[in-house]
Amino acid sequence: MHSDVAVLGLGQMGSALAAAFLRAGHRVTVWNRSEAKTAPLVAQGARRAASALEAQRSAPVVVACVLDYPALTEILDPELPGVLVNLTSGSPEQAREMAARTPRYVDGGIMTTPPGIGDERSMILYSGDQDAFAEARNLLFALAEPVNLGAEPGRAALYDTALLGIMWATLTGWLHASALVTADGSTAAHFTPLATRWLGPVAGFVTTYAEQVDAGSYPGTDATLDVHLATLDHLVHASEVRKIDPTLPRLFHEYARQAVEAGHGGDGWARIIELLRAKAV
Ligand SMILES: NC(=O)c1ccc[n+]([C@@H]2O[C@H](COP(=O)([O-])OP(=O)(O)OC[C@H]3O[C@@H](n4cnc5c(N)ncnc54)[C@H](OP(=O)(O)O)[C@@H]3O)[C@@H](O)[C@H]2O)c1
Repeated sequence: MHSDVAVLGLGQMGSALAAAFLRAGHRVTVWNRSEAKTAPLVAQGARRAASALEAQRSAPVVVACVLDYPALTEILDPELPGVLVNLTSGSPEQAREMAARTPRYVDGGIMTTPPGIGDERSMILYSGDQDAFAEARNLLFALAEPVNLGAEPGRAALYDTALLGIMWATLTGWLHASALVTADGSTAAHFTPLATRWLGPVAGFVTTYAEQVDAGSYPGTDATLDVHLATLDHLVHASEVRKIDPTLPRLFHEYARQAVEAGHGGDGWARIIELLRAKAV
């Protein structure tokens, strides 16, 4: 083995991963289905493997970052001698299935975009074989802070997708709010510093509610669902008057209404988790 790490897949993310390993001084082998993408990395000092198989035999740690699991399955060496760190996005179920048939398997969830790779403030979530993770850990610091979520191989993918859910909910909530304020002549630029400041207290609410969710008890000691329901009326009304899609506030309103009707008007917002769980099929 002549390299410290092999990177399979040199799309936007894989190229950023390989470049970060090179910047950190590691010996890197690269492979990509379309060979042209290897050229910029070879110019930075990487070795180009002629095949995916050759790349996987070139280093004790293989980092894979291709489009999806079917693509990974196509190129994976069934006799892979080293550690496989799979940074290809997938479901927790796919990660578990891959772990069951791949010895020394570590699954990862990248919580940044390519420009954030190599920045120690970024994080990548890992779970899977703990001996394999320990072997790769020092190398993985070149990419971002490695956050170890333990031996259950699906956990990194589960946390990754759950965190992305928070991102989409927050981004869409902010866009809805921006649509509201711009309808009355404000600008998103004027509004947004207040929005980002508001995210601080909201992070505090979440921390308090985490304990309530784990305890299954949701005392409305900060604000009751009765109060939320009345306030949500204003958001639905303000959206309708301005011809802004009221789907989101109506959804929140509906959750609050159902909880209040079920007799939980004195509880806090965390009570809504019971409705979310009950609606799952
Ligand atoms: N971009 C991000 O911000 C980001 C963030 C977190 C996670 N991710 C994850 O990282 C992975 C790669 O994303 P990306 O942004 O780098 O995508 P991308 O730029 O579209 O690159 C896709 C890569 O997959 C390869 N590929 C596709 N089908 C293949 C196949 N059948 N066999 C072999 N290789 C195949 C492509 O090879 P060719 O060059 O030959 O097409 C390319 O190297 C995805 O799972 C994505 O969800 C990305």
